[in-house]
Amino acid sequence: MIPIMRPDLPELSEYVALLEKIWDSRMLSNFAEYSKQLESIASDYLEVPARTVVSGDIGLTCAIAALQIPPGSTCLLPSFTFNSTVNAVLWNQLIPVFVDIDPRTLNLDLGSAETIAGLSGPKLIIATHVFGNPADSEGLGLLAQKHAAKLLFDAAHGYGSIRDGAKVGGLGDVEVFSLSGTKPVTCAEGGLVTSHDEDFLQRFDYYRAYGFQGDYNSIHQGLNGKMSELHAALGTLALPMIEGALSRRHEQVDRYRRNLSGIDGLSFQEVREQDRSTFKDFAVILGSNREREMVENALAAQDVQTKRYFRPCHRMDAFRPYAMSSLPATEDIYRRILCLPAFASLEDAQIDSICETLRNSLSGVATGGS
Ligand SMILES: Cc1ncc(COP(=O)(O)O)c(C=O)c1O
Repeated sequence: MIPIMRPDLPELSEYVALLEKIWDSRMLSNFAEYSKQLESIASDYLEVPARTVVSGDIGLTCAIAALQIPPGSTCLLPSFTFNSTVNAVLWNQLIPVFVDIDPRTLNLDLGSAETIAGLSGPKLIIATHVFGNPADSEGLGLLAQKHAAKLLFDAAHGYGSIRDGAKVGGLGDVEVFSLSGTKPVTCAEGGLVTSHDEDFLQRFDYYRAYGFQGDYNSIHQGLNGKMSELHAALGTLALPMIEGALSRRHEQVDRYRRNLSGIDGLSFQEVREQDRSTFKDFAVILGSNREREMVENALAAQDVQTKRYFRPCHRMDAFRPYAMSSLPATEDIYRRILCLPAFASLEDAQIDSICETLRNSLSGVATGGS
């Protein structure tokens, strides 16, 4: 089977050497040597202070808590994102207000965000860098300023993304990365929270560690968001692999795009010239829902795994009560999108064969239907 993703890992022997040190030290957690090392590797690479956290999901939850937004405030966010983004808002007792995406970039649509912000007066705006494509940080920054709202980027897919020449990580008030196994670099489970705001980071340090700092007096209502040393050590080996991982991924995306160019009705996620996406997922947008199904079935028959990312959150059972606005671009894209395999060890010949199957499955199918 060709999976959609296969984690790229460092040499096992290198990891075992670090595990031996951890065994000797008996320091398994509590922000010891490897968590600190990981923070310093990430801070140097992203050029912004970074904190480790047990997952992107808990990173989002603690980051929103540390922004100290009054409960009951509204938060603008995309529906076209992973459900963690919405969970984190609800755990913090904020009201999610879904905003549509730009169907070309698949990121939050600024015009829709401006309209909905005018109606709902948000105290928090969240944008996801979808599949690693950096969101419109300038436009959203101005919008957040206008409404005196905080701005958070869900950068779960964005380790290595570049916006206007600078790494994603220092945008908005805070950014949250995931290092789970489906990401271009991984420490099995884990995340990073980055911000230039030292006061925010100090509060975040409490929230990610039960709410206290060793004195057993809770300053905030925190939780256990500590990354273990076993995960952090893996991260210290994996994060430096990012540039190699991304250059292989970009070669693969170029190959996919070349092979699939000229197919009627098929398009790709748009990334601006001056930006860099991680292509955590490589998405194709088919001409219709019927075509998407034909491609999906043809690839499944060849044992190729694909994914319909993202199932819109406003259509999920838990979040349906918050589905107030109409989201035509989100709905339309979800009917036509398909993510194809992309990972370091995927061979060129496999990409060629996936593309051939895709092309053949569409031959003779008229586009434009639904
Ligand atoms: C956009 C987005 N946000 C948040 C998360 C949650 O990250 P984690 O799996 O590290 O908890 C994910 C997971 O893939 C994601 O895709």
